[in-house]
Amino acid sequence: MDSNIYVENILDHYHNPRNFGKPEKFDIYRNEFNPLCGDKISVFIKLNKNIIEDIKFTGNGCAISQAAASILTEHIKGKDIEEIKQYGEHQIMELLGIKISHLRLKCALLSIKTIQNALNQ
Ligand code: FES
Repeated sequence: MDSNIYVENILDHYHNPRNFGKPEKFDIYRNEFNPLCGDKISVFIKLNKNIIEDIKFTGNGCAISQAAASILTEHIKGKDIEEIKQYGEHQIMELLGIKISHLRLKCALLSIKTIQNALNQ
């Protein structure tokens, strides 16, 4: 894919976020924010043993932080929590598919940080 397609994909997730909203039932909840800008992400995770059975999020903020949350929640459903705990910058950049400037890195990583803190608490 060329990078325009990735940009379109990010904007699409920003405008039509997948897995957005607070579910009625969940096992773990976590809220984090980016202290530099105040943008927020909350995640609600339902587990089936070690597997992420369902995940939803709410939040507000920039296109990258919100789109990354949408893309990530789609991607990790059905995966083992031990695998998700290992995710770092590399996996998130691969999912987003575009080069993120150093300044925006915290935006891109806010959702994985929230999810990992939720799984580790
Ligand atoms: Fe706040 Fe992106 S500008 S997370």
